[in-house]
Amino acid sequence: MVVTVKPQSAADDDAAFGITLREAEFQAFRDLLYDWTGIALSSSKRNMVCARLAKRLRRHGIHSFTEYYHLLHDEAIGKEERQEFINCLTTNKTDFFREPHHFDFLRDQLIPARRAHGSRRLRIWSCACSTGEEPYTLAMILAEYCPPSQGWDAHILASDIDTDVLAKAQQGIYPEERISTVPEAWRRKYFLRGQGARRGQVAVKPELRSRVKFCQINLMSDDWPLHTTFDAIFCRNVMIYFDRPTQNRILERFTRYLVPGGYLFLGHSENIHWLAEHYHPLGGTIYYLRAPEDTPPPPRLLRFTQPLTRSVRSAPESQLPEYSLILGDVKTAKQPAILKTLLGSCVAACLYDPETGIGGMNHFSLPGSSDEGTNTRYGVHAMEMLITAIMKHGGQRHRLRAKVFGGAKVLNVALERLNIGARNSEFVQKFLTTEGIPIDAQCLGGTRGLIVRFRPDTGQAWAKPLAPTDLTAILRQEEAFGQELETRIAAPPDDQITLF
Ligand SMILES: C[S@@+](CC[C@H](N)C(=O)[O-])C[C@H]1O[C@@H](n2cnc3c(N)ncnc32)[C@H](O)[C@@H]1O
Repeated sequence: MVVTVKPQSAADDDAAFGITLREAEFQAFRDLLYDWTGIALSSSKRNMVCARLAKRLRRHGIHSFTEYYHLLHDEAIGKEERQEFINCLTTNKTDFFREPHHFDFLRDQLIPARRAHGSRRLRIWSCACSTGEEPYTLAMILAEYCPPSQGWDAHILASDIDTDVLAKAQQGIYPEERISTVPEAWRRKYFLRGQGARRGQVAVKPELRSRVKFCQINLMSDDWPLHTTFDAIFCRNVMIYFDRPTQNRILERFTRYLVPGGYLFLGHSENIHWLAEHYHPLGGTIYYLRAPEDTPPPPRLLRFTQPLTRSVRSAPESQLPEYSLILGDVKTAKQPAILKTLLGSCVAACLYDPETGIGGMNHFSLPGSSDEGTNTRYGVHAMEMLITAIMKHGGQRHRLRAKVFGGAKVLNVALERLNIGARNSEFVQKFLTTEGIPIDAQCLGGTRGLIVRFRPDTGQAWAKPLAPTDLTAILRQEEAFGQELETRIAAPPDDQITLF
């Protein structure tokens, strides 16, 4: 197949050519891009490459891609053109408050943890920052929660390989609609509205801009100009363009630039489970850098607060209807309510759609299999039932977010032998990852039962250890279920077929 770009304007007509990108030329450009940036283009990107590079050919008044390939290797003009070539072929989609749970995590976990340890120093690297929305979102969080007046020394380094997007980021000027995802009060506080010729645009205020230092860094290059370590690296939505060896090389290098116990934030579709020896997953594509002698951080009892990007609903919790769930229950709520459950080795998944405020909770044990397909005591069906019920009330599957609890290793012989707590935790994490539902928070494992309360309309969740009397009652319930399972696992029905 030969791809041809037709002239699109009078200027193009002047150049009087349709440009053809042959397969061999496409391959040559793919190789160059891979060598210089690590970006591995799929073969389906041929039209895109043809259209974007055609502009460069027109700019130089040349008529074939082969000629352009030679130009890229020309000593005199090659260096500048190589940068243009890269700028043409990067994908720069970004937003303010993209994947907002990452910024909630900074506010609710990272910053309070630093404060609790008496540290007021914070360094964050946004290493593929595109046009600046990500580092400026970080800057707003630091301005709000790490003010210099309280002794904070908090700064952001923002870098990208693409010099065009970096220039835009440094300018900090955006069409007004770009900041629609910024909370209303912060729009007024951190942006200036354009007048006259600048009408319809907004500019980041200088005090916010001064928190961010921009520079060009190619993640593929051997020498990153970095002389510091970071508490967090935001490397979101760029790993997807790299192949596995490149991802590994970069992610392993990050371990040298993160402080012990630092955090790595990836994009929603980026998973690095194979690097578990370095990075412990906390859910929602947030990873914790393990210290060499480290075991994963113990599950913390978290009090999750209001997501940054939703307005606070005012109904006091004490006035809300409260529903208690036991093993096998699935409950959704359209109106403000509290869903509550007590957990030992079982797991409760709390799912919610932040836009409609519709969500729900289940309480189950073990993945289950096809013959348990209609029994909500088992994970697969309990999860599917919950998702279906939320969608029936108007929630959208693609917007769902999760908080998960339970899976403790409780002191009970039957349950321990089946390793139920760990299997439950592993199941719920895998299920949600496969379904592409981000885990905003989790409190899984440990040895203590939990009481969990969840407000589906806001996504808030609270967890605290169970009182000994409650735990005993829960263990009795789970033990009965454990014994039932043990019998089934020990004695499969005669007619069971084994596949080899
Ligand atoms: C889709 S944007 C992601 C922006 C932002 N992190 C976000 O999640 O909204 C990907 C960015 O990665 C940059 N990029 C691609 N290859 C890179 C490399 N080798 N080194 C540094 N940045 C790179 C691109 O220029 C682009 O701006």
